[in-house]
Amino acid sequence: SILIIDFGSQVTQLIARRVREAGVYSEIIPFNSAADRLKDFDPAGIILSGGPASVIGDATPRAPDAVFKMGVPILGICYGQQTMVDQLGGKVEAPDHREFGRADIDVVADCDLFNGVWEAGTKDQVWMSHGDHVVAIPDGFSVVATSSGAPFAGIANDQKKFYGVQFHPEVVHTPRGAALLSNFVHRICGLAGDWTMAAFKDQAIDAIRRQVGDGKVICGLSGGVDSSVVAVLIHEAIGDQLTCVYVDTGLMRAGESEQVVSLFRDKYNIPLIHRDASDLFLGELEGVDDPEVKRKTIGRIFIDVFDEEASKVGGAEFLAQGTLYPDVIESVSFSGGPSVTIKSHHNVGGLPERMNMKLVEPLRELFKDEVRDLGRELGMAAELVDRHPFPGPGLAIRIPGTITRERLEILRKADTIYLDEIRKAGLYNEIWQAFAVLLPVRTVGVMGDNRTYDYVCALRAVTSTDGMTADYYPFSHDFLGRVSTRIINEVKGINRVVYDTTSKPPGTIEWE
Ligand code: XMP
Repeated sequence: SILIIDFGSQVTQLIARRVREAGVYSEIIPFNSAADRLKDFDPAGIILSGGPASVIGDATPRAPDAVFKMGVPILGICYGQQTMVDQLGGKVEAPDHREFGRADIDVVADCDLFNGVWEAGTKDQVWMSHGDHVVAIPDGFSVVATSSGAPFAGIANDQKKFYGVQFHPEVVHTPRGAALLSNFVHRICGLAGDWTMAAFKDQAIDAIRRQVGDGKVICGLSGGVDSSVVAVLIHEAIGDQLTCVYVDTGLMRAGESEQVVSLFRDKYNIPLIHRDASDLFLGELEGVDDPEVKRKTIGRIFIDVFDEEASKVGGAEFLAQGTLYPDVIESVSFSGGPSVTIKSHHNVGGLPERMNMKLVEPLRELFKDEVRDLGRELGMAAELVDRHPFPGPGLAIRIPGTITRERLEILRKADTIYLDEIRKAGLYNEIWQAFAVLLPVRTVGVMGDNRTYDYVCALRAVTSTDGMTADYYPFSHDFLGRVSTRIINEVKGINRVVYDTTSKPPGTIEWE
């Protein structure tokens, strides 16, 4: 396996992901507990991550000196390269010129790390993000790549199998980066590449058993992929020590609540508490039209209701959550400065504190597509694991303005038709998320010989890899025409349909 020593980079998990994609197991440990953990870990190679600190100055993060004496290959990335250089007797400086974003490197010599990736004389694009850079390399190293901002963009000591790169091979903006990391784990570290999601599943199950012992776990189900996979995984690990709680907010899509309940109770045999709290939610939302007030209201009631139901289980110590890696990074500010809240996505962020329970978060290191793979590995139906994401506040944020039962019913019908047509056209899995929005605007139309004065329905469909950026989906006009006709003919209350062609940014995926 590979040990990744984390110096706090935003993209450390991407290193782990690339290593997983190469079929190799890795573990990430923070630099300050690395020394302890090395004792019970016997890695075939070590990767030192990037990080925000500077090696210049005292008391900055360092790799345990022991790692350089273990006789295993080491790859230092960005800060990882700098600390390796500094710890092995080279020198790092802070130049006037910093390098951020796309850059070109010149490969100036061959080395085992670049074998099959780049040859001497090649120029290629990489992603840089650094202030400091290496100015003198330790004995035994040679320069293998340079860039305008980093004279030592790549350094190699083939004999010891120590390598350092100033750029980030783990991000997609370094097109050959995945190949470089794969080369490191396979060719340099000699690992086979036979690790799979099935192995992840077994490890996750072991880890859950170790963490929970014979304690009880509560898991909130939302009907979405993440919480469903968590529930099935934990149930496989600890059986009926798990109880799921499904809170029906009255803001779900047509038939969704019934599906969740029958699937988990009847198919998976997982103990499930189903609480219909729709009157409570819809009552409190009456007259509320501000998007953030809607979110806060829903989040607050959800926590109350969930707490009440969970406490009925009695003696549960653990709360399971389907937190994914993008949720973990999204909650950290990127710039280091104060970041602006566009939307308070994590509506139930206060849940763990309120419940005073220990968290079980087995998906914390995974990305969405990996969670889907894990779901398949657990034997879950494609229909469930390939589901589009659905926001916690549900249809409440798909009706700009105030929410009424009548508006919810109209929206449910339109949404069902839209998704039905998308499925029939075989487009569901090409799209990240698709949904209807009911606008609180009435327009004039004519149906038969009569005047109509009804709501507008907006259709939204986007492609994305993580929900952070998105593009609208280019449906054919024929498809859009078909959906419009069906919605207007079949849904009383809507007499006009429009298609949203905004990308994110500058738009967001949801309308509120
Ligand atoms: P936006 O609209 O910010 O959405 O581009 C990005 C992704 O997040 C979902 N979303 C939410 N999920 N609570 C959630 O659990 C929320 O308040 C919320 N708002 C947006 C959205 O559906 C998309 O997948």
